[in-house]
Amino acid sequence: MSTVDRLQQLAAALPKAELHLHIEGSLEPELMFALARRNKLSLRFKDVEAVRAAYAFTDLQSFLDIYYEGAAVLVQEQDFHDLAWAYLTRVAGDNVRHVEIFFDPQSHTARGIAVETVVAGLVAALQKGERELGITWRLIPCFLRHLSEDEAFATLADLAPFVHHFAAIGLDSSERGHPPSKFALVFARVREMGLKVVAHAGEEGPPAYVTEALDLLRVSRVDHGVRSLEDAALTERLRREAMPLTVCPLSNVKLRVFDRIEDHNLKRLLDAGLLATINSDDPAYFGGYLGDNWRAVATALPVTEADLVRLAGNSFAASFLGPDDKARHLAAVDDVAARFRQAGG
Ligand code: HPA
Ligand code: ZN
Repeated sequence: MSTVDRLQQLAAALPKAELHLHIEGSLEPELMFALARRNKLSLRFKDVEAVRAAYAFTDLQSFLDIYYEGAAVLVQEQDFHDLAWAYLTRVAGDNVRHVEIFFDPQSHTARGIAVETVVAGLVAALQKGERELGITWRLIPCFLRHLSEDEAFATLADLAPFVHHFAAIGLDSSERGHPPSKFALVFARVREMGLKVVAHAGEEGPPAYVTEALDLLRVSRVDHGVRSLEDAALTERLRREAMPLTVCPLSNVKLRVFDRIEDHNLKRLLDAGLLATINSDDPAYFGGYLGDNWRAVATALPVTEADLVRLAGNSFAASFLGPDDKARHLAAVDDVAARFRQAGG
């Protein structure tokens, strides 16, 4: 068997967690049309092919414009349920055992949809996924950083009755010009409420935004963070603090953070000793779910079997699971790796 075939087999066999997934970004065009019909909304696209043809992005903003437009078909609790259920059934085949899912409450409340509708639909699907597919979960609402901190405070008040469903609060949307410092006060309140903090930083924005996320927001993970390598002192700090980075390889290529998958710096992040993980971000828009991202990494980057085992372990180590669950999943990763080595010689 070729080296790449072996890496692909190992990538497929390893148990994994996904820690960076915007549930609105898993809305496939087929479901978009079905929900538009159900909610008697019209789309500006003729058919699903026309929607897919529009997914030629030049940067983060060009994606976000169409992503927020697509999310407008989500209206009823059942819609949010069906969205999350479609995602869970899709990743169950990729040996995904645990998911930590983002959603954007402000995309929905701005259209008059109550947070309760969104949360009830998502939680119902996640609970069903845990029962029927054995996939455990955490839920993470995100503030939209192109909006104001006051709006984030108002959203936090909307979210408050449901905090028992949330592991953390995140920060996403247009990064450039919206540094983490803009949200220092609201995330201080988030931490006082006993929630962890995560933030997109160093995707398109500079390494200084990663430093701000660490110092001002006190994040438990950095989402993306790939531009951290431009700053040697920051890289060393991330290594020393074992700060997880939720890296999204296919997303980074689709949004032109890297021109080609071969140019992606995931292997360099690992070689710098960073706790990097593989994730899909917005799989319906970026050409692949978690398994596709793993396949792309195993095919196009100079990774070793040990790197893949480490990436699988990192996905659980960086999760918000408790220590017993982490230990159980890490043992399962080691077990698959040992069997693989035995079978392959
Ligand atoms: N970056 C920022 N905001 C987002 C993304 C992303 O990749 N996906 C959905 N919202
Ligand atoms: Zn993201």
